[in-house]
This record gives sequence, structure tokens and C-alpha cells, in this order.
Amino acid sequence: PPLNAMLNTFDFESVAREVMEPQAWGYYSSGGDDEITLRDNHMAFQRITMRPRILVNVRDIDMTTQILGVPASLPLYFTATALAKLAHQDGEVAIVKAAKKAGVPYMLPTLSSYTLDEMLAARTPDQQVFSQLYVNPERSRSEEYVKKLEEAGVQALFVTVDAPQLGRREKDMRNKFTQQGSDVQGDDEDEGAVDRSQGATRAISSYIDPGLNWEDVPWLKSITKMKVLLKGVQCAEDAVMAFKAGLEGCVLSNHGGRQLDTCRPGIEVLPEVMEALKEAGATKESFAVFIDGGVRRGGDIFKAVALGAQAVGVGRPVLYSLASYGMNGIVRMVHMLQDELQMVMRLSGTPNIPSITEKHVIITNLADH
Ligand code: FNR
Repeated sequence: PPLNAMLNTFDFESVAREVMEPQAWGYYSSGGDDEITLRDNHMAFQRITMRPRILVNVRDIDMTTQILGVPASLPLYFTATALAKLAHQDGEVAIVKAAKKAGVPYMLPTLSSYTLDEMLAARTPDQQVFSQLYVNPERSRSEEYVKKLEEAGVQALFVTVDAPQLGRREKDMRNKFTQQGSDVQGDDEDEGAVDRSQGATRAISSYIDPGLNWEDVPWLKSITKMKVLLKGVQCAEDAVMAFKAGLEGCVLSNHGGRQLDTCRPGIEVLPEVMEALKEAGATKESFAVFIDGGVRRGGDIFKAVALGAQAVGVGRPVLYSLASYGMNGIVRMVHMLQDELQMVMRLSGTPNIPSITEKHVIITNLADH
């Protein structure tokens, strides 16, 4: 179907499934174990109901915001997802360009198909990006990588902390993974150590240090002046520890349901985290909270913002729209979310992002409430 036949993010998913190689589809779409969390990520948003206000002047809707100080056209960023060339030959380069066109930040993945230099070179001079970090067992490698990011002007570093071992993704494991036209470039010299016989997931697990712990946080902070955040926090205690350790924020995420199964969606964790952070003295300015996982509608973005998130990340919608229609597909996907968010904001009586509050949603159907 032509690109303008796409009406929502799910449409891209259907097309991607048709056009992608089975191995690539298996790697992108799979979740951990029984995929309970994978499915629940989007469903959790449906457990939150709207509480709109009427007779507010909603002639003009302003969705613009700042994400860690970076201007964005709406509270959305493209989160890091490994190996974008499995979707499309233009891979991460197309995502960098689409991010610029759509006016949202992109979190560059450590395990990219294109090299870091190629991704950075695809930016326009004024384009700001974030970066995701898998800490390597050899710390000096991570230090070099981080130094390169900092020199390239990357704004913030998201350290992934939910993958000391990669989850069992059976759809992916069933595919004997041979990387056609795609390579893990996170660390060229490590090629030999990568075992590709058990799917992409097994192939990349040797990059990640399972020994990483809270005592390494001062080291992480010491190797860069970039903002450092944790990606993959799942409870109030850890969010508060991150705040007290002097970090700039965290992403409430279960890695798109690809790691521990039957854990909670980020949106479900958000209320307890915001409450605990407030008690610990954190403000929205001093500590930024993000969520990702299952964001598929403009209304999902609204709900996350209402509950205190500075922005939300999207993963698979970027990959699926890229696989289906290349860079233009990604831009269109963002425009659809913008249209949806604009409508939800108008119908909720919230003309701009700061006007969206927890009073605009009801969360009694979420766990713990
Ligand atoms: C991911 N994700 C991820 N996260 C990370 O920190 N480093 C990585 O290399 C990857 N790789 C990756 C590959 C693929 C194919 C997917 C789908 C996801 C997790 C990602 O950043 C994010 O947490 C989820 O994708 C969010 O869920 P949705 O938007 O895909 O539902």
C-alpha cells in the first residue's frame, strides 16, 4: 500500500511483517519468554482513562517541548534499537535524518549497523542527539566510546541497565542468524568474539558487562561531562538511588518486553516513581523521568506526560516504519502521532504540554492503585 494509506502505527507493523526478512522480523518483534510483558506494554495504556476538561480555549495547540534541554516538536524521542539495517539498507542513517525532519531527538544505539562516525555524519550541523551505552567488560573500550560521543557533541548518555544477560527471545533463537548486509559495529575488533549461531540476541550479548553495579556509577560520571541517565529502571527504589547518585534522570523501561518477562510496563511504574522522587526532594528540573514501551498512540504520550514523564521513547514503530517506507515512513509515523496527540490535547482541554496534569487521567486500574 502507498505511504498515505497508513493511518496509525499498527498499519506500519503489518506492512513491515510482510516486507521484512523472517529473521529480521523475528529479531525486532520478539519479546522475552512468553511475551506477557511485550503485550502488556501497550495494553497498560488502555487501563488509564481520560478525565477531560471542557470549555478551555483549544484553538491553538502547542505540542513543543524540551527533552533534556533539546527542543522537540512533541514529547517524543526515538529510542536506541540495535541493528537498523535489518529493517532497511539506510539503517540508522535514515533514522538520524528522519529525527531531524520530524524534530525529535534520536538516541544512537551502541550496537548499530552503521558505524558511530557514519551516524554522527548524518546529522545536520544544528541537530542534537543522545546516545545509548552498553558498558563493555573492558572498561577502557567504553571510555573511548564515550569520549568520542562527547567530542561529537552528543547531549546525553543513557546507560542501559536492564540487560546484564539478554532475554530469551524464542522467535529470534529459532532463526539461525546470519547477518546479511548488516554487522554489529559497536566495537569492530570484537567481531571474532561474537557467536552468531543462536540468533542476533546471543550474538550481541558478549558486549555487555554483567558485573556493572552501583559502585560503577561514580566512574561513569567521571568519564564524561555529558548528562548520564539510566535506561531500564523498574521501581521507585532504583529511581531514588539514581537521583541520589547524582544522575540526571532515568528511563522506566522493560526493554520493549525483551528482557525479564511478567514485569511491569514503564507507564505502570511511573506513578510510584514520581511519588518517591518527590519525597526524596527531586524536582522535574533536577531529575528527568522518561518511559518507553508500547507507545503506539498520541493518547499514550498524553498519559505519560500527565503522570510526570518528560517524554516517551518509541522503538519498534521507528523500525517498522523504516522497514516499510524508509526515512519518509518514519517521518510520517511521527506526524500521525502528532495529529493524534493534538486531537487528544484539544479534547482534554490542555492547549500546551505544561497544562497536562495528573488530574487529566485516572489510574485506579493500574497495579498498586
Ligand atoms: C531494543 N532496545 C534496545 N535497548 C537498548 O538499550 N539497547 C539496544 O541495543 C536495544 N536494542 C533493541 C532492538 C530492538 C529490535 C528492539 C525492539 C528494542 C529496547 C528499546 O530501546 C526500547 O526500550 C523498546 O524498544 C521500547 O519498546 P517499543 O517502543 O519497541 O514497544
